[in-house]
Parts: sequence; C-alpha cells; structure tokens
Amino acid sequence: MKNLIDVIDLSVKELDDLISTAEDIKKNPKKYSKKCKGKQLATMFFEPSTRTRLSFESAMLSLGGGVISVTDSVSSSVSKGESVADTIKVAASFVDIIAMRHPKEGAALLASESVKVPIINAGDGGHCHPTQTLADMLTIHEEKGRFDNLIVGLCGDLKYGRTVHSLINALSRYENVKFVLISPEELKLPEYVKNEVINAKNLEYVETTSLEEVLPDLDIIYMTRIQQERFDNKEEYERLKDSFELNAKKMLLAKEDCIVMHPLPRVNEINTDLDDDPRACYFKQVENGKFIRMALILGLVFGHTKEEPKEYIMDRKCNNPRCITSVERGIKHKFIKNELDGTFRCAYCEAKQD
Ligand code: NCD
Repeated sequence: MKNLIDVIDLSVKELDDLISTAEDIKKNPKKYSKKCKGKQLATMFFEPSTRTRLSFESAMLSLGGGVISVTDSVSSSVSKGESVADTIKVAASFVDIIAMRHPKEGAALLASESVKVPIINAGDGGHCHPTQTLADMLTIHEEKGRFDNLIVGLCGDLKYGRTVHSLINALSRYENVKFVLISPEELKLPEYVKNEVINAKNLEYVETTSLEEVLPDLDIIYMTRIQQERFDNKEEYERLKDSFELNAKKMLLAKEDCIVMHPLPRVNEINTDLDDDPRACYFKQVENGKFIRMALILGLVFGHTKEEPKEYIMDRKCNNPRCITSVERGIKHKFIKNELDGTFRCAYCEAKQD
C-alpha cells in the first residue's frame, strides 16, 4: 500500500497488521514516541472536522514528527480558484505525508495521482472514509474479538454516510457477516456499494425502516448522522433529520453484548442517556482513531510498496455532479469496467455510467 484512498487498498493482512501495531502502540506508547522524528505531516481539510484532523495531528506529534495544516478552503488558495492537484503539489513539496479531506468524491484519488508522497483519504464527499473504518475495526476487535460471525446493523443516512460505505467494504471480507441496513427509503445504501460489495460477494443483508424491529438481533448497532451538508433539498433534510433515535429505553431490546457505535459528531441519533451504558463505544472509537492513525502513518512513511498500475477505460465522461471530475480542470475521466454485467464505474466517485 502506497496511499490509503479506499479500504480496498488494504489487504486483509495489512489491516490485521495495522490493528496489532495500534494495539502495541496503545500498550507501549513510549516505544513509538520518536519513530517519526524529522518527518512531517500536512493535514489538508477543505471540509469541517474536529476528531479526524485532531487525531491525525495528535498521532503525528505522538510519533515525534511535525505537523502543518490547512483547516478550511477559505484560508487556502483553493478560495482563489487553485485546483486540487496544484494545491496538493505545493504541500507535497514540504512534507513526507498528507492526510486530506475534500467535499468532492474522488478528490483524494486525484491528489494521489498528482504527487509522490503518500496520501491518506480523510473523507471525500459522501464516498468513503477509510481511516474512520480503521478506528471502527480496532474498536470492534477490542470489543468483540472477531470480525466474522457478526450481525451488523447500520442505521441512519446510508446514502451519504461515507463511514458506512467504507465499513461495509472492510467487514465484507470476513466470514458470515450479515448486514442489517436501517434507513428511510430516501437514504438507502447506494447501488454501487450494494452491487459491487454486498451482492458481488453474495453476502446476506436485509433493508428496513424500523430500528426497533431488528435491534434484538444485532451484535453491533452503528448509528450515523443524517448528512445535512450533502442534501440539495433542505426541506427533505428537515423531514428526515430525526428519523432515528437510540436511547437507554430502546437499548433494553438489544442483546447484553450488542455494542453501540457512531463515528460522531452525533446530533439526535443517540440520546446522552446511553453514554454510561457499558455497551456505548463511540468515545472509544475516537480514542482508537489516534492509535490506528499512528500505525497507519508509520506504515506509509516507512513503507516502500509500489502500486500496481490499473487499467482504465477513458472514452467517456462522468456525469455525477458530486464527483471531483465535475470541477477539476484538465482532469482525464477514467472508468473501470465490471466484467460481469458490462457496466462502467467512474474510477474517482464509483458512480455508474452506461
Ligand atoms: C464522520 C465523517 O466526517 O464522515 N465523522 C468523522 O470523521 N468522525 C461522520 C459524520 O460527519 O457524520
């Protein structure tokens, strides 16, 4: 792995290694406190963030390295109309590794094609968020001791919730994982995740609009925020924003060892009356996010893996307005062919084109 753009960039073995390194860092932080001495990380966030940016920065500082950062698009030259590729090239000339977040789908992939330093995708629009998944996987490993034989409920905004897309991708590689997809009709899991991940691997899943009905079956309930910033229609957001609330009373329906997860920030999806329940793991996920990001930075800064060139089809254009290709100048549109059904997916945002 040279970059971390999507969970699929990581083999199962690489993921296991990251988890065991993170667990070791957690036990012996001193051993790692100078590992990145003389190295620098740039965090480039063109979208709001508290946890992710701070945990990247804290991770690098705890490895003895330095950090420079861009915290929004207003204070950087992006506001002057600079392209993503140019902005990233500038940062890459100062640092050894870059963690970036951008509102357009595929922006991190584009950045990784523009520079030689490793790029970590810290969230690209509603597409994916692989480092949140690493924090989630470390938490599941600690709490459940396994990734197979799990019934995993994912609840809320499954359409725009990028953490859900990446988590499904990661868990789909283990045995006997069943997904219970709980969302309003309007916010169901995108077809590309359902087809390319769940159906392609013949995994079991159910879709429902009722949290209460399925709660008793679950080993994990992963709640998500309705992603206000991705809605074109504000009235629709207002109508859907309070679709689900998990609280102490509802958790009486759940198994005694069903853990409650949330990438945070929460709005109304989890009542604070659940925070003292030992099954509530959302603040553990935050803590684990730092350790797994330390392991990831170490792996990427000192890794020497070359990426295999991929084959792309370049005879058409992506028409997804949320894709980075809709705004970046001079970009070459690229597609991946699904050999099974003959359809094409944009290499950046994964939207399907005929
Ligand atoms: C998530 C994100 O940015 O996608 N937050 C995070 O990184 N922990 C979830 C969210 O914003 O709802």
